[in-house]
Amino acid sequence: MVENHARYWDGRDLRPLYLAALVHEFPETNLVAAAHDGIRGYIFGFVTPARVAYVHLIATRDDTRGTGLGHRLYYAFSVAARTQDATQLKAITSPDNKGSSAFHQRFGFVVRVVEDYNGPGADRVVFTKELNGCL
Ligand SMILES: CC(C)(COP(=O)(O)OP(=O)(O)OC[C@H]1O[C@@H](n2cnc3c(N)ncnc32)[C@H](O)[C@@H]1OP(=O)(O)O)[C@@H](O)C(=O)NCCC(=O)NCCS
Repeated sequence: MVENHARYWDGRDLRPLYLAALVHEFPETNLVAAAHDGIRGYIFGFVTPARVAYVHLIATRDDTRGTGLGHRLYYAFSVAARTQDATQLKAITSPDNKGSSAFHQRFGFVVRVVEDYNGPGADRVVFTKELNGCL
């Protein structure tokens, strides 16, 4: 997965965001879709004390896109988050990641741009969705 990271992120290098601590400390909400041909996708996140199920990273390998894997990963994450009493899903992306926005909008996430979210001049798109129904 780390070796093939470009296949999950369309060439962008997000390896600094792979945090081993998340996997070690939040195993219930850090999920990997593994198959005979390797890792097809993953979702990494955790539930905050305010009961927000925060998605740090979600990605599917380039040859698995459009097969419903992203949805299945989000669904499994939501089920795990609910068992920890989460009430809301939240994720962040860059304004130029139109695919991520389309994906989240498909599942009814509220989308808003927050100026300077990631520091001065670094706006981010923030997705939120109440966890009171099916994803
Ligand atoms: C975003 C991503 C995880 C979606 O994964 P996926 O496995 O292709 O998603 P699914 O097959 O489950 O698609 C679910 C729905 O979202 C829609 N969708 C997914 N990607 C889309 C895109 N780029 N543009 C428009 N719609 C999209 C699908 O059409 C599908 O809708 P449908 O149910 O009406 O057919 C994947 O494209 C990816 O890994 N992108 C690179 C990493 C990234 O940007 N992650 C998000 C960071 S917040």
